[in-house]
Amino acid sequence: TEQPLILGIETSCDETGVALVRGHTLLADEVASSVDQHARFGGVVPEVASRAHLEALTPTTERALDRAGVTLADVDAVAVTAGPGLAGALLVGVSAAKAHALALNRPLYGVNHLVGHVAVDQLAHGPLASPTVALLVSGGHTSLLLVNDLATDVRLLGETVDDAAGEAYDKVARLLGLPYPGGPPIDRAAAEGDATAVHFPRGKLGDGSYDFSFSGLKTAVARWVESAQGDGEDLHVPDIAAAFQESVVDVLTAKAVAACRDHGVGHLVISGGVAANSRLRDLAAERCAEAGIELRVPPARLCTDNGAMIATLGAEVVAAGCSPSPLDLATDTSLPV
Ligand code: KG4
Ligand code: ZN
Repeated sequence: TEQPLILGIETSCDETGVALVRGHTLLADEVASSVDQHARFGGVVPEVASRAHLEALTPTTERALDRAGVTLADVDAVAVTAGPGLAGALLVGVSAAKAHALALNRPLYGVNHLVGHVAVDQLAHGPLASPTVALLVSGGHTSLLLVNDLATDVRLLGETVDDAAGEAYDKVARLLGLPYPGGPPIDRAAAEGDATAVHFPRGKLGDGSYDFSFSGLKTAVARWVESAQGDGEDLHVPDIAAAFQESVVDVLTAKAVAACRDHGVGHLVISGGVAANSRLRDLAAERCAEAGIELRVPPARLCTDNGAMIATLGAEVVAAGCSPSPLDLATDTSLPV
């Protein structure tokens, strides 16, 4: 028998994502981004994001249905990001999902965005091993999760106490005069630089926790840039980018591998926009190979925010027999896993 058709809706930040899946088969995954509208502010502006979701959600949904060759009447369940994320942005997706569920008389499932980032890897690499450790690194989050069961048992091991990793990339790019979002240009500049030219601090490395901190690193880069400019020196952007990046990926990979080792877990998933980073992929592959850990990184398109992650997690929740959410489902900007 055919697996249920799940409609997934994601609007937690600046990407409007709508997807259709059956089990681990992706039928359509349409994304409209408002990233260009935020570029001149150097970060996501919540009100701008909310309005962009309102405008994009209906056409994006229509494109996804077309692409999948189905109609709304074919949908068996509706999954939507209930949090964490921006309040107004989340409300747009959750309101639309409720309307579909009510109009179609189909169950509604509010799901967690962070867990969606992990679940989506199944579309690329098949069922996740259990347990798995997951490192989520994006502009909005930096978290380490212990995933025993995607639908019912995910534990937060640690998270950033200040900036997210991607946010650090974006802020440092601004200091270096590179465009927003800062991850890709820093990644490219770093490839030409010498990571040992400067030693920047490793936030919270070796403190025994699974938490992260990147604001001290950002300040250290700012001081370096100020003093170089004060001395009238040329900024060696590639070297600074490489040294900054080395600090970020050193801490990220060290803590992820430590989490696996401490919990006796042999599987690691790295997801979120920063998982596209070439140095992070290389260093994680190297350290996982040394530690005997199987590393899975979804393809870049699935790493960034999209509807597929929410539809895939929805399929998981339906298969696990979880109760649907009530039609007065609330959004939660800091929804725990
Ligand atoms: O997952 P995502 O698309 O959106 C959310 O923040 O949820 O992640 C975007 C973040 C941005 O901060 C961007 O600078 C970062 O991912 N990013 C990268 C790279 N590509 C995107 N960071 C480092 N290296 C990259 N190659
Ligand atoms: Zn995300």
